This record gives sequence, structure tokens and C-alpha cells, in this order.
Amino acid sequence: MRATGAAEMRAQTVALDKRHVWHPYTPMQQYIANVDPLVITRAKGVYLEDANGRRYIDGNSSWWVAALGHGHPRLLRALANQAEMLAHCALGGITHEPAAKLAEELVAVAPRGLNHVFYSDNGSTAIEVAVRMAGQMWQQVGQPRKKRFVALEGAFHGDTLGAACLGGIDVFRGGMGGVTFDLVRLPVVGSGQGDGAYAAGYEAIVDLISRCSDEIAAVVVEPIVQGAAGMRIVPPEYLKQVSNACAQHDVLLIADEVFSGYGRTGAMWGCEHAGVVPDIMCIGKAFASIIPMAATLASDRVFEAFLGDKSRALYYGHTFSGNPIGAALAREVLAIYRDEKVLEQVARNAPVIARAFERISAIRGVTRVRSIGMIGAADLEAPVSSDESGARGGYFGEIGWRVYEEGLKRGAYLRPLGSTVYVAPPLVISERELTELMTIFEESVRAALK
Ligand SMILES: Cc1ncc(COP(=O)(O)O)c(C=O)c1O
Repeated sequence: MRATGAAEMRAQTVALDKRHVWHPYTPMQQYIANVDPLVITRAKGVYLEDANGRRYIDGNSSWWVAALGHGHPRLLRALANQAEMLAHCALGGITHEPAAKLAEELVAVAPRGLNHVFYSDNGSTAIEVAVRMAGQMWQQVGQPRKKRFVALEGAFHGDTLGAACLGGIDVFRGGMGGVTFDLVRLPVVGSGQGDGAYAAGYEAIVDLISRCSDEIAAVVVEPIVQGAAGMRIVPPEYLKQVSNACAQHDVLLIADEVFSGYGRTGAMWGCEHAGVVPDIMCIGKAFASIIPMAATLASDRVFEAFLGDKSRALYYGHTFSGNPIGAALAREVLAIYRDEKVLEQVARNAPVIARAFERISAIRGVTRVRSIGMIGAADLEAPVSSDESGARGGYFGEIGWRVYEEGLKRGAYLRPLGSTVYVAPPLVISERELTELMTIFEESVRAALK
């Protein structure tokens, strides 16, 4: 595009956007008044490119989706081929090869025994499906009192109503007007809290499950890492303990692998770190890579509770459940993971992230760092001289946004989670690109904390 053409397009896009687009997770008054947004025109590999022709390394894989980077030629081909053959048809009483073959491939790659695949549109709906399955299952196996769900402090399972009820981050629940379902929230223990805190956390959860198991339908967890809580790493023993308590007291375990799945933590599934097999597992984001698509996998026991007369069916679905393009893409994603040995690339890249965060821990104003697989995070404290309200941290704190601005100047997109700044780049990032990303990250943190 000619430079003047690009500038005009950019100006017009921003003007229309500010007039009409209501952005997710965005205080719109401040946005309209103060923000000059990135206008992205294309993306390739690990780079986003804006209307000014500037490139930015996508430090969070565009909300944790682009595990294989952007514009992977095999995904684009799969998209085009499937669109030409069959772009959409309903999955009610109809089936098609992409949905059937994908289900077989998912079952093969999932933790053993998750033999049944329910398709939906996004991570939140994958959780809704899981909650509905668990609730209805107990009704139908003669245990109707088991209706309560247990979720962890700091949990994030999405923004539809049911998923948001499970969430434990106040800022994402503030607008729900008190609409919630019956939930028990348990403390979670994260990295850096010491063995004593882990032991207290185990005790609380085991105690609750053993005392109240006749009322609890399921425990819902983000295995190994709580993403939106600020990349809190949960020790595998914690997950193991929760899983054991669930098994012992006949409570279902729902694993939300929407973020932790597909190799993000170094293993294909977060559950693998603890050798845990959930009863229900939710996947999304990287699953179909460029199409909104998700799936909820269930054990035989859960599935069989829905067999029998018609009244026992799961009367639940979404218009685009099992969309053929999404299914074809999800199959191609799995094929690319196999052919390009993506988990081996993660094993090579993860130490680069871990070493960088060790260095970053020495920067004054960095209070804590952690890393696992292709995730690294640092908590920041605002400089003492700062007088901005909220600059001291929390979700609305400014310090993370300063790192974001510094990152943009240097060529990386580093959207923060409050005062936690982090990277979760495409898993297939090259060593050179990753080194560049970590250099920009480190420089941006230093500059923001100056
Ligand atoms: C662990 C987890 N579960 C569920 C969701 C919701 O996914 P979606 O935004 O696709 O609805 C997210 C989104 O970030 C997530 O991190």
C-alpha cells in the first residue's frame, strides 16, 4: 500500500473504531480519549505488522492462540481446501469426516480414557459444556444433591455466565450483578509461597472434598498454571492431591486446558506434569488456531450417564458446533505438532525463557519471577517516586502498561496482566526471535522501572 494510502486507511480505521467498536476488557472513555491503538494489517510467523509498516513480535501469541505462529501455510491451505468442500453444516443428526476424524485424533492424543468429544465455539463454552455435563450427570445417576462446583482462588475459565461464575478474579466478575451459581472457592498455592503454604492448601482442599463430597459435582482447575491470575504456577503435587481427593470421594475433576494445553507448559497437557487424568477436559485457543473452535472431552462414565431414554440426553449445543473448517484446521494443527515436532521445539526454547527471567529477577522493582515451558512472568512494583493512583499494582495498575509502551517502541507486543508482565510467545519461535523478544522484554522492564 502507498504510504499516503496506508496513512489514510489507518486514520479512517481509528476514527470508525472509536465511533463504533466496543473493545473487550477496555475502559472505553480512556481508550477513546487517550489511546492511539495499534492498527494491525497483517501477521506472519511471530510478527504482527501495523499500518505504519512496523513489526512487533507477538509476545502473547495473540491471547495465547497462535502457538504455531501466524499464517502457517499448511493451516491456510487446510482452511481454503475445507472451505471449498464444505464450509458449514449443522452437527445435529448429521456428521462429516473432519468432525469424526478429529474426534478420533483427539482421543488418541488426550489423557487416556477421555473417549467422547463435544464440540463448541470457544474456551468459555467448552467450560459451560463441562459444567452442564457434570451437573446433569449426577442428576441422572441418582445423586441429585451433587450440584455444587469447587473452583480455585484466582481461577479464570472464561466470560460466559457459567464460566465467569467459576472465575476467582474480581475484576472479571464485577459486572455480573450478583448472578452466580453455587460455588465453593478454595485457596490455591502458587510458586514462591513456601512448603508450609502448600501443605495448608492441600489440607483445605482435601478437607472440603471429604466433608462435602455428597454435595460437590466437580472441582474445576487450570492445570499447572493459572494464566489470567498472572501466570501463577501451581505445583504438580497440588493438582495430584486434588485429583486423588476427587477420586477417593467420587467428585468429578474438570481440567481447563484451554491455556495450558497444546504444549504451552512443556507437556502436551498441563495434567501430564502431575500424571493426572481428569473426568472432563476442556480445550480451545491453539486447538483450531485460526477459527473459534473448542472441545470438551469426557470419560466413558460421564458419557454413559446420558444414555437411555430421550429425556437423559444433553440438550445443549451451539450453531457452529463441530464446524467443518474448524475441525479441518484442528486436525491440521495436530498434524503440524507431529510433523514439526513442536514439543521438541518447546523443550529447546523453554530454557531460554527460564534463563532470561532469572536475569530479570535481579532488576530493582521486580518482586518475583517464574517460568514454565513457553511462559515467563515477572511481578513489578511501581517506583517509589510514582504518584499516579493505582501505579502500585493490581489489575488497574499502570506499571505493566508502561512495559507495554516500552515494548512497542522496541518492537514487541507485551500486553500485561495488571502489574504482572509476561511472555507466552508462539511455541515455534526461532532461537534468534526468542532472544530478540527476551532482550526487548528485559530492556522494556528496565525502562519502565527507571
Ligand atoms: C484457562 C482459560 N479457560 C477459558 C478461557 C476462555 O476462553 P475464550 O476466551 O476462548 O472463551 C480462557 C481465556 O483466556 C482461559 O485462559
